[in-house]
Amino acid sequence: MQYILLLVIILLGFISCRESPTSVKIEEQVPQLGLITKNAMVVSAREEASKIGSQIMEQGGNAFDAMVATEMALAVCFPYAGNLGGGGFMVYRTQFGEIGALDYREKAPLKATKTMYLDENGNYLPEKSKVGGLAVGIPGTVAGIFKAHEKFGTLPIETILEPVIQLAKNGFKLTKAQAIRFNYYAPIFKKVNGAESIYTKTVSEGEIFKNEALASTLQAISDKGQMAFYKGAIAEKLAAFLKEKGSIITVKDLARYEAEWREPVTFNYKDLKVISMSPPSSGGICLAQILKSIEPFDLKQFGHNSAKYIQVLTEAERRAYADRSYFLGDPDFVDIPVDSLISDEYLKNRMDDFSFDQATMSTAISHGNIPGYESMETTHYSIVDQFGNAIAVTTTLNAAFGSKLYASELGFFLNNEMDDFSAKPGEPNMFGLIGGTANEIAPAKRMLSSMTPTLVEKDGDFWMSVGTPGGSTIITSVLQTILNVYEFDMTMQDAVDAPRFHHQWLPDVVQFEREGIDEKVLQQLKNKGYAIDRTNAIVLGKVDAILMLPDSTMEGGADRRGDDTAIGF
Ligand code: DON
Repeated sequence: MQYILLLVIILLGFISCRESPTSVKIEEQVPQLGLITKNAMVVSAREEASKIGSQIMEQGGNAFDAMVATEMALAVCFPYAGNLGGGGFMVYRTQFGEIGALDYREKAPLKATKTMYLDENGNYLPEKSKVGGLAVGIPGTVAGIFKAHEKFGTLPIETILEPVIQLAKNGFKLTKAQAIRFNYYAPIFKKVNGAESIYTKTVSEGEIFKNEALASTLQAISDKGQMAFYKGAIAEKLAAFLKEKGSIITVKDLARYEAEWREPVTFNYKDLKVISMSPPSSGGICLAQILKSIEPFDLKQFGHNSAKYIQVLTEAERRAYADRSYFLGDPDFVDIPVDSLISDEYLKNRMDDFSFDQATMSTAISHGNIPGYESMETTHYSIVDQFGNAIAVTTTLNAAFGSKLYASELGFFLNNEMDDFSAKPGEPNMFGLIGGTANEIAPAKRMLSSMTPTLVEKDGDFWMSVGTPGGSTIITSVLQTILNVYEFDMTMQDAVDAPRFHHQWLPDVVQFEREGIDEKVLQQLKNKGYAIDRTNAIVLGKVDAILMLPDSTMEGGADRRGDDTAIGF
């Protein structure tokens, strides 16, 4: 019985991560412009978070100060994905054109083993990596904001966190979508945590939701810095809470955690330079492989979301995700042939067996040959400041509210990021992704991600900041958003709102959003042997992006699929 209940919880977590409670009607319409501002902008999943980030910049702070504020504000008012108990990635481009990436992804605990989600017969126990203590990876977010602030911040951390602490103390107004979601999960939280908390009450739209415990945690972090979280009283409380819930994370794991600066993946697509997240995210490499594979095709002539356009993208995606599954993992543990995987030479042959007449079967596709190589909920925000710094940040607890474990004394949820590891070769994770040894579990290793915070330059200048939640579908939503603007001349707002599709090698289906795709196109694809799935995802991603316009104003694209909001000045 308990097993069945857990399976239901897992399924709901998975579905909720991909579906929004409200479905979206995409209409044929005149171009819609998002918010236009002259100086600075934040586009995030919540109005309150965008407002706090924007105000920090109005006070003279830069995009990195705003990142700290926005990230923490999302932890308060978008606890579905915003977090202190999860992790994420940031890609940046400074006003001087310097680029870089920050990895604050969770890590496996020191006591983790390769077979920790298998029973004594070697069978995979999928619920264990998704719900409760064993699913939790060592949180990286607090280390991430301090690492960013230490290198680039200009305002004191107390100044940045003050409005966030007030938000947690005084509360924020629940939107309709949020009230539905909180009420939906309340009994699940009660079951998983075995206790009442502020998240087990019934709430209604418009109600003010406060989190005093989180305000105190944030106050301690503001007063004492990141060590308050990783070594002090919070660490001890957190480790004790996790132990009680069956986690193997200890105070030693927390004390050892560090965020890392990484080299972003960079490549050209026509006259664009794309700067995206490197491993342990697969985002940048897959995006590079797909964009470079489709570059020779005349997408504009095929037409947006035409059968030919969908075919070319699908076939490039199929091949890139096959490589993802074989080659990619934590670069601190596995040797990843990044340069080879995104080289023109390697990619030029990957599409050789593609034909417009017939779908390639995923069973006929495996990872490519690299000479010498041996071997569900997230949120994204984009920020541009008045100095010309641009960032793209994607942060997550993995599933909606992560493992569903809520540390009520500390005021935050814990991730279930361990499910992003490949628990057993050939066994799909929550997103249907299959991995191999490159992404097997090991102590202190980071699990492979699909998060794709991305910046794009045009003619050497900043052009776009873009990213989205959506698990394995993140990469293909970022891809389509860039193409929508670049190839199909859409506004930023229309580009994020346009209907999307997705293919990830296995399972061998093209997923479509339920609304907005031409039935005739679907029929043409079916006739060519493509399996079509319109049931799994009402929406694919919630993209938030900023586009620099030719007159040097910027346009925000806040995805209409969520409560996402652009705010700036
Ligand atoms: O890192 C990853 O790829 C996943 N943990 C992201 C999860 C996600 O986007 C869930 N949202 N819908």
